[in-house]
Amino acid sequence: MRLPDYKEARTRDVRDYKTIQFKFDEKIKNKYLGKKYYLKTYGCQMNEHDSENIRALLENIGFSEIDDYEKADLILLNTCSIRENAHNKAFGMLGRIKHLKEMRPEVLVGLCGCMAQEASVVEEILTDYKFVNFVFGTHNLYDLPEIIDKAIETNKQQIEVLSREADMVEGLPVIRANKFKAYINIIYGCNKFCTYCIVPYTRGRERSRKKEDILKELEELVKDGYKEVTLLGQNVNAYGKDLYDDYNLANLLEDVAKTGIPRIRFTTSHPWDFTDDMIEVIAKYPNIMSSIHLPVQSGSSSILKKMGRRYTRESYLELFDKMKKIIPNVTISTDIIVGFPGETEEDFEETLSLVEYCKYDNAFTFIFSAREGTPACKLEDNTPLKEKEDRLQRLNEVVNKYFLENNKKLEGKVLSVLVEGVSEKKNMYYGYSETNKLINFSSDEEIEVGSIVPVHITNAKTWSLDGKIDR
Ligand code: 5AD
Ligand code: SF4
Repeated sequence: MRLPDYKEARTRDVRDYKTIQFKFDEKIKNKYLGKKYYLKTYGCQMNEHDSENIRALLENIGFSEIDDYEKADLILLNTCSIRENAHNKAFGMLGRIKHLKEMRPEVLVGLCGCMAQEASVVEEILTDYKFVNFVFGTHNLYDLPEIIDKAIETNKQQIEVLSREADMVEGLPVIRANKFKAYINIIYGCNKFCTYCIVPYTRGRERSRKKEDILKELEELVKDGYKEVTLLGQNVNAYGKDLYDDYNLANLLEDVAKTGIPRIRFTTSHPWDFTDDMIEVIAKYPNIMSSIHLPVQSGSSSILKKMGRRYTRESYLELFDKMKKIIPNVTISTDIIVGFPGETEEDFEETLSLVEYCKYDNAFTFIFSAREGTPACKLEDNTPLKEKEDRLQRLNEVVNKYFLENNKKLEGKVLSVLVEGVSEKKNMYYGYSETNKLINFSSDEEIEVGSIVPVHITNAKTWSLDGKIDR
């Protein structure tokens, strides 16, 4: 049994790992043929992508996927720790599974992802959720086939969580959810240790993948006809720092752009690491999408300092202005936390005024959630929840106002749309613009899903646009 440990998670020389090639264990290939798995994914795109690897690992040992957990032989929850409600959702699901286990004790239940890296969660599983058959962490996802096999063969609970990142594993199999949009990991983990954030503990320190490995994966996607790639990392702007002296995200973006894949996105960016070179490369290549996610978290410099964000309101706005000036038609989205411990009404009003200035195209807004083990969890917090909810609502009113205002400016324009699917209504399709706006549009002619088409925008809404094909 290997249990998670935050103290250990904090200490690690980031260069101290090797890259190893993943190999299937031939002894268990197809061993569980005919068995069904149900996989539930919580959280961010990183987790979504991990689940794409998990699917391939499970299917290699014979499992096939179903979407009704009550009929599954294996139920696996790929969990998220970012806020308390993500936790609650996973524990709620475990509660339902407990009932199912009473009727069908043979069902195998597993938990992985970020919650598995938390010592308190694993303790709770050991004491109150004994029916969970196995737990494995984000650092040893590739062990899944062996862990399952061991759980079945020994009939004993398997807890296999590495607190510190293990070696970098290349060549993990993948079953992608989409045939024309793909995720590629470029960097794992985060070294920023923002005081509210649990990610550096659950995902470890920053480890970049070698550029050759990333570009090889990308070339295959291009060969397979993929139209869009999203480069993933908790902080993509730190790409390369742990590996190279003279190769960073700007260089990688340029190399990715040169492959000719029509759309390149990247997420998430930390404003602190965003260099002028990166801005210039984004401006230079039309296939690097000019929509940037730039989390601000707060508009108050004093709160930003308490959050450990390493920038001030002023330096954030300087970067913001630079992007708006240099990247043609750039759209910027953000994340904002309200109710951080010690946030006063004045601090909050600074957030509102920053939003009034930035007029974001999209914003994800949250109430601060105290995460055990993070420095912010220990700070005195006198603001009542009611007040925080009120701030969130006031903030949402302002952000929504600008979503609509920005969308209105697109009425009458023609946007290029990557078609994602056919809607239930006749002759209706939906897809995303280069700036990541959801567009519902009509076309009398049949359109292929996965193609990129021009759409004339006829009507703007807060969260989407209506249009018709421009032929
Ligand atoms: N409480 C509330 N929101 C949080 N986020 C991260 N940690 C917390 C927390 N403890 C938000 C940040 C981040 C986004 C992914 O989630 O805004 O950018
Ligand atoms: Fe949630 Fe963060 Fe883990 Fe993603 S990396 S699943 S957002 S805790």
